[in-house]
Amino acid sequence: MQRIAVLTSGGDSPGMNAAIRAVVRKAIYHGLEVIGIQRGFSGFIEADMGPMNLGSVADIIHRGGTILRTARSEEFKTSRGRARAFENVERYGIQGLVVIGGDGSFRGAEIFHNEYNIPVIGVPGTIDNDISGTEYSIGFDTAINTVVEAINKIRDTATSHERTFILEVMGRESGYIALMAGLAGGAESILIPELNFSINDVCEKLYRGYKRGKLHSIIVVAEGAASGIDISKQIKEQTGLETKVTILGHLQRGGTPTAFDRILASRMGAKAVELLMSSYVKHMVGMVEGRIVAAPLEAAFEEKKPIDLEVYNLAGILSI
Ligand code: F6P
Repeated sequence: MQRIAVLTSGGDSPGMNAAIRAVVRKAIYHGLEVIGIQRGFSGFIEADMGPMNLGSVADIIHRGGTILRTARSEEFKTSRGRARAFENVERYGIQGLVVIGGDGSFRGAEIFHNEYNIPVIGVPGTIDNDISGTEYSIGFDTAINTVVEAINKIRDTATSHERTFILEVMGRESGYIALMAGLAGGAESILIPELNFSINDVCEKLYRGYKRGKLHSIIVVAEGAASGIDISKQIKEQTGLETKVTILGHLQRGGTPTAFDRILASRMGAKAVELLMSSYVKHMVGMVEGRIVAAPLEAAFEEKKPIDLEVYNLAGILSI
């Protein structure tokens, strides 16, 4: 293997830059050449790519977003789009591809490998932490720290005004951000899509708190479970209680990556290069029990990543 390419795809996540840096520098260390593809699979199709060197990734380890930019490519979902991308594989002499992104990006990479037999390695990069086969994805730690910071600030107002706040967080179909940030922020209720919840229980908990003299509360809602505004309306209907809703939105995606995400990204990016050099052809990198390991690419999306029930139950006990 002499020349590999790297791209970032799907939603950006903090630490993607650290992963790009690791891929480029580890590859160069081993004498490989690296092509950087811009705008994910869109740039792959449109030949928006060029060589990277040690200097291309200088001064980026601390920056959020992705210097390679990113996109969600509809065209790569078509066989015509992938055929155009393969023309560029041949034109640029690319012998292996590192895809940094979420499960949708991994699916695209898998189909591409099946059709054209080019080795692909996935590096999990998404704030959602919804990729099976890894305990952590790059960007999740930074995102939950952002949410916890928001909870802290909102709690100041909640206690001062004796109010109930509802905080809607991202995660698509996954409740990982809500659960972990809710636990770390001491949220009174956490609503996630993986588990059924009842508004009655939420109201009951609020009521119990009121009886004990607790006049403020924070409810964290994963966007995949319900909209914060709907929850607020339902609470109003059942209890007459006014609640304030904050939708954190895209501010959860940006920002300087935490040390954890930088270390994870550095280790995973380097491992991806090692896997390509060791003739792995359709794999992902994952963190399992603290170790960086390889798993078949399908492991990322064949099964939905389960939520940690123990953590969920603990959050309930601690927020009584
Ligand atoms: O997958 C990351 C994510 O931020 C999800 O949590 C969210 O649902 C989605 O992307 C938003 O996508 P977009 O930035 O395209 O609106």
